[in-house]
Amino acid sequence: MTTTGQTVYIETYGCQMNVSDSELMLGKLAAEGYVPVDTPDEADVILVNTCAIRDHAEQRVIGRLGELKRNMRPGAIVGVTGCMAQRLGPVLLEKARHVSLVIGPDGYRALPQLVQRARDGERAVETSFDLEEHYEDFAPRRYDKVKAWIPVQRGCDYKCTYCIVPFTRGAERSRQLDDVVREATQAVADGILEVTLLGQTVNSYFDGSNDFGALLRAVGAVPGLRRLRFTSPHPNDFTDAVISAMAEVPAVCEHVHLPMQSGSTAVLKRMLRRYTREGYLECVARLRERIPGLALTTDIIVGFPGETDADFAETVSLVQEIGFDDAFTFKFSPRDGTPATKMPDEWQVPDDVAASRLATLIEVVRAGSRQRNLTLLGSRREVLVEKAARRGDLLQARSRDYKTVLLSGDESTIGQYVTVELTGTTGSTFTGSIVRDRAPLPIAT
Ligand code: 5AD
Ligand code: SF4
Repeated sequence: MTTTGQTVYIETYGCQMNVSDSELMLGKLAAEGYVPVDTPDEADVILVNTCAIRDHAEQRVIGRLGELKRNMRPGAIVGVTGCMAQRLGPVLLEKARHVSLVIGPDGYRALPQLVQRARDGERAVETSFDLEEHYEDFAPRRYDKVKAWIPVQRGCDYKCTYCIVPFTRGAERSRQLDDVVREATQAVADGILEVTLLGQTVNSYFDGSNDFGALLRAVGAVPGLRRLRFTSPHPNDFTDAVISAMAEVPAVCEHVHLPMQSGSTAVLKRMLRRYTREGYLECVARLRERIPGLALTTDIIVGFPGETDADFAETVSLVQEIGFDDAFTFKFSPRDGTPATKMPDEWQVPDDVAASRLATLIEVVRAGSRQRNLTLLGSRREVLVEKAARRGDLLQARSRDYKTVLLSGDESTIGQYVTVELTGTTGSTFTGSIVRDRAPLPIAT
């Protein structure tokens, strides 16, 4: 087959695992001779890597596919990959006539062949699961020059009753520790300054001999790696061994994104989260005890079937009691085939009630983070300068405790660690000024 001069564009929706998968796909296609381009109208092959977690995410993709149809090159191949591809399979080919490829998260190994078949006029669907698949021999082509996502686990075994992920990404499996360390070492050799380990319940990692604590220690020992993060953990998998590794490995940053979902034990039970309100609080206490200055962020769902005003009040009070640095908040979105859709009709929370709870919760989260962030003004942080900020000519940097700091400076600072003083806050992000370590040299006279 000839791919000379063929161009490829990948657009990514959803979580970091999808970003990482897109990097693997791009790496695979580049190795086969495809040339990555930055816009879909330059591309011979357009892949839309999708998310199925909420209906809203899928609607955005449907809208985007319509847009692409109007703007794509004549004869371009359009493929849909990721969780929505896995969930809908052949239905997508019927819904969108200009789509000729549908490939689920375990099917990317066949990507070059499937693209070739599509170029020969076929329309193909590949949605089988492969429990051995980690794309170990793919060289990811990373979008970011400063930070790397490294998948350590695929799939999920928890089966929370609202969640489509176990259906779209299959059963949990972990990569071998040595393979993860090899990838991290290569990333650092390529100039990467920060690594985030990825998994659906990343701290349940187990490769047959090593647990997540061992993985943190091994990756944290990669020479030159100053910052190590991971996302997303499950509260039940924070064993003492994992928390000790977090506390003892200097590279592990003082931030945990710890999905809470609800503050009501009754709702947590119906969600099959496998912990209670008290259990979650205890997990937070254990983490805070061992890791001083730990920042905590979370995910919360409102309007889950059966959630009463009293249940929602428990969510609000737990958010206030814990004092999250930030939270992603969602209205429950029923996903076909998940157990939550089979709950009794009388448990359904009317949309206006869910919407008003969401608005209340957003206010509570914002007020809390504003209050906390105001107390940080005047303090100093080491930040890693990540990229040019969207706003004006500022740079965007991040502290170990995951605060976003906007700085003025020139682009040569990107990819460097600098010390800043936090000088202002919008409530959620900060402005900062670089603190010079040395006193300025006297002016020569
Ligand atoms: N409806 C709303 N939010 C959901 N999430 C997962 N499934 C759903 C759903 N069906 C949220 C959870 C999870 C985050 C990634 O998305 O809060 O932690
Ligand atoms: Fe979904 Fe629950 Fe697994 Fe997270 S832990 S991916 S919310 S099933």
